[in-house]
Amino acid sequence: MRKPIIAGNWKMNYTPSETHALLTQLLHFVQDALCDIVVCVPFLNIAAAKQALEGTNVHLGAQNMHWAEKGAYTGEISTEMLLAAGVEYVIIGHSERRQYFGETDDTVRLKVNKAMDAGLIPIVCVGERKEERLSGITDEIVSIQTKVALRDLTAEQVQGIIIAYEPVWAIGTGLTATDEQANETIGVIRKVVGELFGAETAQGIRIQYGGSMNERNAYGLMRQPEIDGGLIGGASLDAEKFSKVVHFEREP
Ligand code: PGA
Repeated sequence: MRKPIIAGNWKMNYTPSETHALLTQLLHFVQDALCDIVVCVPFLNIAAAKQALEGTNVHLGAQNMHWAEKGAYTGEISTEMLLAAGVEYVIIGHSERRQYFGETDDTVRLKVNKAMDAGLIPIVCVGERKEERLSGITDEIVSIQTKVALRDLTAEQVQGIIIAYEPVWAIGTGLTATDEQANETIGVIRKVVGELFGAETAQGIRIQYGGSMNERNAYGLMRQPEIDGGLIGGASLDAEKFSKVVHFEREP
């Protein structure tokens, strides 16, 4: 009932011409995909990606944005700029942004609100650090992150956003959460959404898993009932690998 959504997070990789080449190759493999597909490229590659993706089934995303309309925010990018460039999705609160660039649950909330007002679809990242999982507070951590991020939204708005559950210890490490761990924690996030916005919203919202998800483990993860998609880092940098994640229904 929830349409799966697979998104690539390219992080800080590739030039505009490399972007065009990779996407042209990718489009070849994913024309017949059954799920929604998004690629979140670096800001400077958005124009090249837009050109490559025009009229196709692959949607364009950015990896960050600022919550202000415009003004004296050196180095930042506004929602108006993203929309004008043809962007539809935006990753918000990725753990690398939280870890290296000082983003907090509160700045995540400001960005989510602004993205919704502007008409961008946020992919909101939540997830526990290794020591938090080891001390048994994973559920509390993801619950707080989810509550703060969604605090000002209506149930209708929440239905339209994407949450990505990304355990920090699994990102770029080759360590994936087990299918069951990912399913269980996503279930916790869905429960929180239900408590705040009602059962219908909880059943409608799409929640992805992210963290070393790739062409080998996508099949198993996507068979879990709570997991509605993936946010893919490393494996999205290779057209063939990413296309295999997109075709997660095919057994590897
Ligand atoms: P990874 O990254 O797939 O390389 O672990 C996922 C992410 O950071 O979104």
